[in-house]
Order: sequence, then C-alpha cells, then structure tokens
Amino acid sequence: MKTLRLAVLPGDGIGIEVTETTLPVFEKLGVPVDVQFGDIGWEFWKKEGNPVPERTWELIESSDATMIAAITSKPHAQAMAELSQELRETGVSYLSPVIQLRQRLGLFANVRPVFSIPGNPRQIADNMNFTVIRENTEGLYAGFDFSPIPDELFEFIQRKKGARSSWQMESPMDGAVALRLMTRDGVKRLLHFAFQCARDQGYPRVTWVDKPNVMRESGQFCLDILEEVAAEYPGIPWEVQNVDATAMWMVRDPGHFGVIVSENQFGDILSDLGAGLMGGLGLAPSANLGAEKAYFEPVHGSAPKHAGKGIVNPSAMFLTTSLTLKHHGYTDQADAIQRAVASVIEEGKVLTYDLGGNATTREMADAILARL
Ligand code: IPM
Ligand code: MN
Repeated sequence: MKTLRLAVLPGDGIGIEVTETTLPVFEKLGVPVDVQFGDIGWEFWKKEGNPVPERTWELIESSDATMIAAITSKPHAQAMAELSQELRETGVSYLSPVIQLRQRLGLFANVRPVFSIPGNPRQIADNMNFTVIRENTEGLYAGFDFSPIPDELFEFIQRKKGARSSWQMESPMDGAVALRLMTRDGVKRLLHFAFQCARDQGYPRVTWVDKPNVMRESGQFCLDILEEVAAEYPGIPWEVQNVDATAMWMVRDPGHFGVIVSENQFGDILSDLGAGLMGGLGLAPSANLGAEKAYFEPVHGSAPKHAGKGIVNPSAMFLTTSLTLKHHGYTDQADAIQRAVASVIEEGKVLTYDLGGNATTREMADAILARL
C-alpha cells in the first residue's frame, strides 16, 4: 500500500482533543500514513496576524490529503481586538481559514452526509440516509459584504428604491450589503456533482433548495441551469423546494431525501439541521471537494465552552477520517470506521454526554478503536 501523506491541522479548542484521540485509527487499520501536523487557527491569527500561515499552504500543497479538526471564527471587531497594536497596524484582516481553503483551493462541493445509526438514542428518525451538498465558494460567502455600502451600489439602491419607501438611508453609512453571487460555472459544476453523487451512490432523488419565489432573478438563473443539467441524468428524479419548506420537511419526513443540493448559506444552515437530526454536531462529518484538491473536517466548530475538558464526542472526527480514506481509495477501511462508530453507539455503553452517556472523549474513542 502506498503511504498516504496526510496533513493534519488540529486547529483550536476541541479540535486538539478529537485529533489526538482519533489519529491511532490509521495504525489500527494498517493504513500507512505519514502524518505532518500543520498550524492553523486562532492562535496563529493572534501571533502572526494570519490564521493560515504560508507554511501551512505549502504543507497542504505537498500532501495527498488534508484533515482539519476545528477552527474558531469570530466577527470582525472581536478578531481585531485580539491582535497586538503592531499587527493591527499592518492592515491585516481576518478571513475564516476554512473559507480561505475552500476558495483558494477551489473546493466547490461541501458534502455533508446525514444518516441514522441503529440504536442512536438522540436521532430524530431511524430511516435517514441523505447527503447535503452545499456550494462552497460563492453565494453569500463570495466576500461581497459591505459596510458602509460602496457608493456605486448605494446610488443604485436609491434609484431602484421606488415604492419601497420604508427604507430610510441618508448615506452609505446607514446600511450594509451582502451580495449573493451565483455564477453559471459554479452552479453547473455543483449540480453535476449532485446528480453524479445521486447516481453513483443510489440516492432516490435530487432536491434543489433555494428561494426562487423571492430571489426571482438569481433563483430563476439557477433553475434554468438545473433544467439543463438534470436533462443529462434522465434516470434520476429531481425536485425544487423552498429552503424554509425543506427545513420543515427534513424534520417531518427525513426519509424522503436523497441528495439535497443548495447554495452556500442555505446549505450551511441545512447541514447543521441535518446534524441536529442525527443527534448533534458530534456525529456529523464533511468533505470539501474540488476538481483536484480536497480537505475533510467535522461539521462542528471548536466549541470553546467544552475545550480542554475531554468530554466531547470524537465520532465526527472518526467519521471524517472515514470520508478521507474513502476519497483516497481505502473503501474497506472507511467502511470499517463507520461500522465501529455505529456499533459503539448501538451498544450504548460508552457514550459521551451529547448521546446521554458520561464517557470521556478518550474512552469513547478507545471503544471505537477497539472494534477495528
Ligand atoms: C461550517 C462553518 C463555517 C461556515 C464557518 C466556520 C465559516 O459553520 O463549515 O459550516 O459557515 O461555512
Ligand atoms: Mn456551518
């Protein structure tokens, strides 16, 4: 077996704990890996004014696979407040590391599986098996987020205002704007990816989720592309839903869904909802995929309030490792991890607090490892 060069970026908070307790999985499975740890996250923002130092980009570039555990992300003012005067004066600004990776590496598809595990005490239904595929580089995350409103845009809005006189803006300082960017290429490659995923993994349908009854122009733009792309996959049923309705139906009838595909922010929200259906973020893995590169991470964040206590669920990190191995061709080993996590949960003896138990992160991780 070829050695997998694996960049591991533990990041912040609970990321460190779940990484430490999960990493023995490779040895257990006999997968030869060369693990190189890399710097990413809040600490490097504070120390260097850059949460993804250049050496980390180099590491990612020279690795076969990259795994991130968890990263802290804070609003602008808080981020700046934690910098030294000296760094602040260099004019740096904070951009979430994961957004940087997704955009710079062109990882346009964020794949977030949602599935039932027999005996999982916290899941909402026992017949869930769907995947949320979230656009990962554009939409409201494209970076066109302004306060104050740029002059040209302000004038444009004032001209268009017409009957909507409830908006009282005297100057660009009286408003803020975030633009949702949808590009033809971006929507097309996302939809192809979604239909191929449904086809290759046997999902029953593709659900395109948006809000075209309100975002009429950008919504219709996507619907036209959807029609075109869907026509290339004649055997695969598809439908369109409004995002609010999807949120409701995900709770009422999660078994209905196969592939849920959506723009960036709607997909962000729905994938957390998906994690909630599974019983929490402690169980939700994700893959960020592009044409060439990829990185893998649990859906959860760094959970500062739990950090350092050793109590969080390591399952999302194990399942993320499973997605990583699967993507790199280690299918049997990937399945073995899935089964080990499921079997510990089904047995119900060694569970962390989120699943109703009182095991530590390490105890649950060791129970999973013992089944491999
Ligand atoms: C996620 C996270 C990120 C996102 C944040 C940390 C920028 O919530 O991966 O879902 O919004 O995409
Ligand atoms: Mn999120």
